[in-house]
Amino acid sequence: MKIAVSGKGGVGKTLVAGAMAHSFVRRGFKTIAIDADPSPNLALTLGVPLEEMRLITPISENKPLIESKTRTTYSGVYRLSFAVDDVISDFSVETPYGVNLVVMGTVKSVGSGCTCPANAVIRALLRHLIVEKDEAVVVDMEAGIEHLGRGTAKHVDTMLVVANPTIKSLEIARKIYRLAETTGIKQTFLVGNKIASKVEEDAVQRFAKTNNMALIDLVPFDMTVGQAEIQGRTPLENPETKAIRAIEEISRKLIQRE
Ligand SMILES: Nc1ncnc2c1ncn2[C@@H]1O[C@H](COP(=O)(O)OP(=O)(O)OP(=O)(O)O)[C@@H](O)[C@H]1O
Ligand SMILES: [Mg+2]
Repeated sequence: MKIAVSGKGGVGKTLVAGAMAHSFVRRGFKTIAIDADPSPNLALTLGVPLEEMRLITPISENKPLIESKTRTTYSGVYRLSFAVDDVISDFSVETPYGVNLVVMGTVKSVGSGCTCPANAVIRALLRHLIVEKDEAVVVDMEAGIEHLGRGTAKHVDTMLVVANPTIKSLEIARKIYRLAETTGIKQTFLVGNKIASKVEEDAVQRFAKTNNMALIDLVPFDMTVGQAEIQGRTPLENPETKAIRAIEEISRKLIQRE
């Protein structure tokens, strides 16, 4: 399973990606989480302390790695001599709950015309990552829709688009959803997050129905998530909270569909 989590800024992509990765680990999957946000912070959700997160070098800034993986002959032309396994084993970070984390750094889409070697390595990593039956990859994407294009997104098989019960985030989710459909991703689902009332639940359900989006589940608004974060702890610490349980349920549904 290769799953990407996208959506407007602040809707809860990182919480969903982190909690899903953790639930895959708990179900016995070897799990890699890829932080593809240029302002990465998935490490914190996965339980890495702030000081340690600051020490992680994103792949895009790892010059020796980039140079060893690409042979730049002249500006803009590169060759890939690529072994994905090395990158995962040498550059992923072990996190406290057993998820292997790869921090990518800035990823530009193919559509933007950027051919810099760092992006080639990152795209190749996603493309060549072969996921066995007992393995899962969860990608925490950059907010918004620009990067989706034909770049990173098409190398995953499931796109989860997260939205809150606001028209703005739902409308961005709709655009991402439609784009994802054109990239040939096998399946795309909407996830409603921070749902605090029946009215909000209904609003998300109605929006999904009107716009032909498959709503996989609703994740309730959960005070303990913010409380944990403000205290410098991860919400994953307590897997029994409402939000974490709901996200776990999404993982279960995805496993079942496989
Ligand atoms: N179900 C929830 N209940 C309560 N608070 C939540 C919930 N999900 C996310 N949050 C809070 O919303 C904020 C944004 O969450 P998160 O960082 O996961 O979003 P994001 O989409 O990854 O944001 P960004 O676009 O900045 O990367 C955080 O403060 C988080 O604690
Ligand atoms: Mg995030």
